[in-house]
Amino acid sequence: MRILVTGGAGLVGSHSAEFFALSNPKNKVIVLDNLMRSRIFGYDKASVEYNWNYLKKYKNIERIKGDVRDDKDVTRAIGRGVDVVIHTAGQPGVPSSVRKPLEDFSINAYGTLNVLEAARKKSKDTIIIYCSTNKVYGENVDKIPLQELEKRYTFKDVVGVSEQMCTDLTGHTPYGVSKLVGDLYVQEYSYIYKMRTGVFRMSCTTGTRQFGFEDQGWVAWFIIATLFGKPITIYGNGKQVRDMLYVDDLTEAFNLFINSSSESGLFNIGGGPDNTISLLEFLDELESLTGKRPKVKFADWRPSDQKVYISDTSKLEKTLHWKAKTSVKEGIKKLLDWVKENKTYFS
Ligand SMILES: NC(=O)c1ccc[n+]([C@@H]2O[C@H](COP(=O)([O-])OP(=O)(O)OC[C@H]3O[C@@H](n4cnc5c(N)ncnc54)[C@H](O)[C@@H]3O)[C@@H](O)[C@H]2O)c1
Repeated sequence: MRILVTGGAGLVGSHSAEFFALSNPKNKVIVLDNLMRSRIFGYDKASVEYNWNYLKKYKNIERIKGDVRDDKDVTRAIGRGVDVVIHTAGQPGVPSSVRKPLEDFSINAYGTLNVLEAARKKSKDTIIIYCSTNKVYGENVDKIPLQELEKRYTFKDVVGVSEQMCTDLTGHTPYGVSKLVGDLYVQEYSYIYKMRTGVFRMSCTTGTRQFGFEDQGWVAWFIIATLFGKPITIYGNGKQVRDMLYVDDLTEAFNLFINSSSESGLFNIGGGPDNTISLLEFLDELESLTGKRPKVKFADWRPSDQKVYISDTSKLEKTLHWKAKTSVKEGIKKLLDWVKENKTYFS
């Protein structure tokens, strides 16, 4: 297979590229990235360039520096055609989308349409995988009744959020909106142009080689702060809960979709009800693993920050026989060990 991974220098992109490069030496993986993650978040370049350089060792990965918003760059990356596009490139931060809504829109919405159109022009048989987000449901998720416990909130009547959750008549943040535009366009290319598309509405995804900042990638950011004595700010009371997904389980789902006979699909994906953690519980877990606890300041809730988000993954389990294999604790430990081994990038 020829596979184009956009955003291939990011967390999801670099793991996807590696997965497909390793799973079959005959696969040819093309990675397209403009290395702008560090610029989006205003930090040093070590993060994206680390992943970019990391992929160099694979002979069947070609790296192309380019922008998903630029037709010439995307067309060059597609070359003589690709069987699959895994579209992970994005502006992934909520606060950055509030600060710069036009840039957020241009990358997440226009960039997605540009990739779809370039792929369609070459071949309607190309399979498109899209990294969507739980943020497309916005504050509708907060209409689910909650119970407040000592260190976390829990859903009262449901185990998780299904694909039936409404996306309308609520706040999303510009990020949630731009990702929803991309999500709808990907779905539309299946309806109108009969392309095979898989939309994965991801919740909190983590893994090795994640360079977290306060604005995005909170799991990695809390680990870095804990290990290197940096203060953190918790927006809200820290009882917010996420279902954490380890990135290998995500790439496995992409692979199952590509190799299945299922037509286009839309799936919520996350660790699910068995793999949830609140921010306060996460700090406890880190303290038990490292003996350290960062200095914590509390501030006001961020706009549209869902108090609990847990994916109902039953559709994915039924359709693709997928199940998250990595527990929250295993995922945290893997990332923690990786950060310890790569101190120079963080301390
Ligand atoms: N990580 C999560 O928890 C999470 C959750 C839900 C959805 N998502 C979505 O999944 C996708 C991947 O997330 P991630 O965590 O790997 O993010 P990431 O920031 O690690 O990776 C995104 C990559 O896209 C690249 N990029 C940004 N703008 C680009 C452009 N215009 N042209 C080419 N490349 C560009 C960046 O340089 C970066 O390498 C994103 O679209 C994000 O919205 C992520």
